Amino acid sequence: SGNRTFTMLKPDAVEKGHIGAILQQITSSGFRIAALKLTQMTEDDAKTFYEIHKERPFYGELVEYMTRGPIVAAVLEKENAVEDFRSLIGATNPEDAAEGTIRKKFAASISENAIHGSDSDENAEIEAAFHFSGRDQF
Ligand code: CMP
Repeated sequence: SGNRTFTMLKPDAVEKGHIGAILQQITSSGFRIAALKLTQMTEDDAKTFYEIHKERPFYGELVEYMTRGPIVAAVLEKENAVEDFRSLIGATNPEDAAEGTIRKKFAASISENAIHGSDSDENAEIEAAFHFSGRDQF
C-alpha cells in the first residue's frame, strides 16, 4: 500500500526501446504498477496536460514532442510515492541528474527527458484521472 503518483514514459524513451528497462527499474525500486497502458496524446491532450507551461517559450516544442509517438502512461503506488519517484527519475535536465537516475541513463536533453513524474499528490490524482478511468486503476 501507500500513496500514488503518475508517470509517462515519453515518446523518445518509447522510440528508443527503453520501456522494459525503465519499468524494470521502477518496479525494482519498490513501486507497484496500479495502471498501465501504451497510448498516444492528441494535440488537445498535450495542450491541456501542459497548460501550466503555456506561456513558456518551449510550449509549442513540448506539445510537438509529446504527441509525435506513443507514450506509456502508468499509475504507481508506494509509500511517499511522489517524492520518491522524483528522486528515482532525477533532475529535469539529464546533465544535472544524479548518477543511476532514469533521466541520467535514458534522457537525451532537457526537452527530451524520457519520463514524467507528478510534482504533488494533488497533480498525481488529476493526471491519473486524465489518462485512466477508475476501473482501469487497481
Ligand atoms: P517535465 O518537467 O516532466 O514537464 C515539463 C517538460 O517541458 C519537461 O519535463 C521537459 O520535457 C520540457 N522542458 C522543460 N524545460 C525545458 C526547456 N528549457 N526547453 C525545452 N523543454 C523543456
